[in-house]
Amino acid sequence: MEPYKDLSRSIAGHTAIITGAASGMGRASAHLFASQGAKVAVTDLDQAKCDAVAQEIAEAGYPGDALAMALDVTDPSAIETAIAAAVDAFGGLDIVVNNAGFARHALIEDEHYPQVWSDSLEAMLTAQQRIIRASLPHLRQSAHPRIVNIASTEGQGATPGNSPYVAAKHGVIGLTRGMAVDLGREGITVNCVCPGPIRTGITEAIPEEHKEIYAKRRVPLRRYGFPEEVAHITLSLVLPSASFITGAVIPVDGGLTIKNA
Ligand code: NAI
Repeated sequence: MEPYKDLSRSIAGHTAIITGAASGMGRASAHLFASQGAKVAVTDLDQAKCDAVAQEIAEAGYPGDALAMALDVTDPSAIETAIAAAVDAFGGLDIVVNNAGFARHALIEDEHYPQVWSDSLEAMLTAQQRIIRASLPHLRQSAHPRIVNIASTEGQGATPGNSPYVAAKHGVIGLTRGMAVDLGREGITVNCVCPGPIRTGITEAIPEEHKEIYAKRRVPLRRYGFPEEVAHITLSLVLPSASFITGAVIPVDGGLTIKNA
């Protein structure tokens, strides 16, 4: 037998960029990665909100660092600038977490449907592709290059009135698989996390009693998840030891997608 291989579960010193990191699951991942010693570019629409998360991380006294940067993922030149700034500040890039997103419902006959469609596809699918493209030259220099795309259980099924989001999230799964196949030869892993109902900015406006009714009816674990529960799965996919998983689509949904009745 070959000797047992002791694979590393540490991202200490690794550099990550996380989009939509001022809130919810992106913020939780930023905290978690920094707590593990990573250097994290905290990016989101609003500089002040990024600053606030970077400040929380600094105050927590983690071994890692945070760099706050405004980045609207729908702006292609801003993507290039933010990635260059992260690489400049940290000296490289090992991890990309494509997380930014929003929920806007629309029915096909609605007047605003075409706008919701293009906004959703642009921010939640095309942007992920652009960020991967812009990151690649740097990921190619990394010893453990990792990409995690945040999709949704809406990438595997559909809730009524949500087709632009559903299309974008199905697209994220396709992008993940396509990139995994193309980048595998370079050792760059590309995986996708599909959160179910999670307590974040997106679901904040749903009244507690509605959350409870929904969770009891649909979720085997009978509750909404916490952003940290998703962040831990994202972390597990970016570890050096996660070196033989790619193109995977991982639900973190309390069992939502496996429940029939
Ligand atoms: P959140 O609202 O707490 O965080 C999303 C962040 O993305 C916000 O801070 C927002 O400002 C940012 N963002 C939106 N548009 C952006 C843009 N153009 N450029 C940069 N940042 C932008 O919500 P949450 O839930 O943490 O969302 C994270 C990801 O998780 C999203 O992709 C969402 O679709 C996905 N998701 C959320 C679920 C939930 O139940 N909360 C379920 C499944 C997927």
